[in-house]
Amino acid sequence: MTEAKRRVFIQEVSPRDGFQNESQFIESWDKIAFIDKLSESGFAKIEATSFTSPKAIPALRDAEMIMHEIKRNPDVVYTVLVPNLRGAERAIACKVDEVNLVMSVSETHNQMNLRMSREQSVAQLSEVITAVRGTGIAVNISLSTAFGCPMEGDINPEEVYRLAAQFAELGVQGITLCDTTGMAYPTQVEEISRRVVEAYPLLDTTLHFHNTRGMALANTMAALAAGVVRFDSSLGGLGGCPYAPGASGNVCTEELVHMLELMGYDTGVDLGKIVGVAGQLPELIGHDVPSQLVKAGLRGRRYPAPS
Ligand code: COA
Ligand code: ZN
Repeated sequence: MTEAKRRVFIQEVSPRDGFQNESQFIESWDKIAFIDKLSESGFAKIEATSFTSPKAIPALRDAEMIMHEIKRNPDVVYTVLVPNLRGAERAIACKVDEVNLVMSVSETHNQMNLRMSREQSVAQLSEVITAVRGTGIAVNISLSTAFGCPMEGDINPEEVYRLAAQFAELGVQGITLCDTTGMAYPTQVEEISRRVVEAYPLLDTTLHFHNTRGMALANTMAALAAGVVRFDSSLGGLGGCPYAPGASGNVCTEELVHMLELMGYDTGVDLGKIVGVAGQLPELIGHDVPSQLVKAGLRGRRYPAPS
């Protein structure tokens, strides 16, 4: 008897984490056409945009239009990043499936990114959770800089557990641990992920890696060992927080899916399709992307032997 493949859920964040970091504005209809292709590629979730201040994130100032014009696939959860109550009101008006609330474990990064203290963030986000209750919209909390802060350095894991506990108590459905600037390393990831997965078996735990120091796939292996089955990733390896010095792209979706499928996991994602879409990214955004897979081709690629 063959063992059933272990299911992992891939959550595509390029329209938010990727596009937020592009200096050249990507035309709204181009974003919409891109997201429509993602919607037919087998992702469990797509982070389509963010409802942030257009002064803070001008690249995503067209969030309403994006949410109104994309063709929603009922099998995909459409989530959006929300930093405050104003963002939540906008997201609710657009009937998103999920709001992805964000704050940092590091006080310094929270101040830089969200212009408030962590305490103020928790207070605002708890108002958001109250506002969302009863709408049928799910709530996820993304904890940035959970594995290290580019200004403060090491983050005490107890601070991660403390914030996770606060948001679990407030009634979120999911918790995402974010390695905002690629400071996470595998043994650390395994320890922190395991604590969170075991503490909140009824919540969805997601790991959000950036490949800034080349450790994202190794960190993914560590998270899998800890029981994590949900991963954020970005096509082409785009991504980065404009308010975190030294930030660069997310773990690359096609490289992540390629690895997991080779290992026998069921990602639900159509690898051939996403490699094709990733190949179109340089034209869409006007520059090369980090993806090594798009350049190298899949493992099955064969070359004629040199004569
Ligand atoms: N959507 C739209 N506009 C918003 C908004 C939102 N969610 N939140 C605030 N604004 C507007 C206000 O109306 C105000 O507009 P005005 O200047 O025309 O009056 C302006 O933004 C400033 O509002 P304020 O409440 O003082 O916010 P701030 O300047 O302290 O910024 C945040 C706080 C959280 C809104 C802002 O820092 C932000 O959007 N950060 C997101 C960062 C991010 O996405 N980083 C990458 C992902 S991790
Ligand atoms: Zn990120």
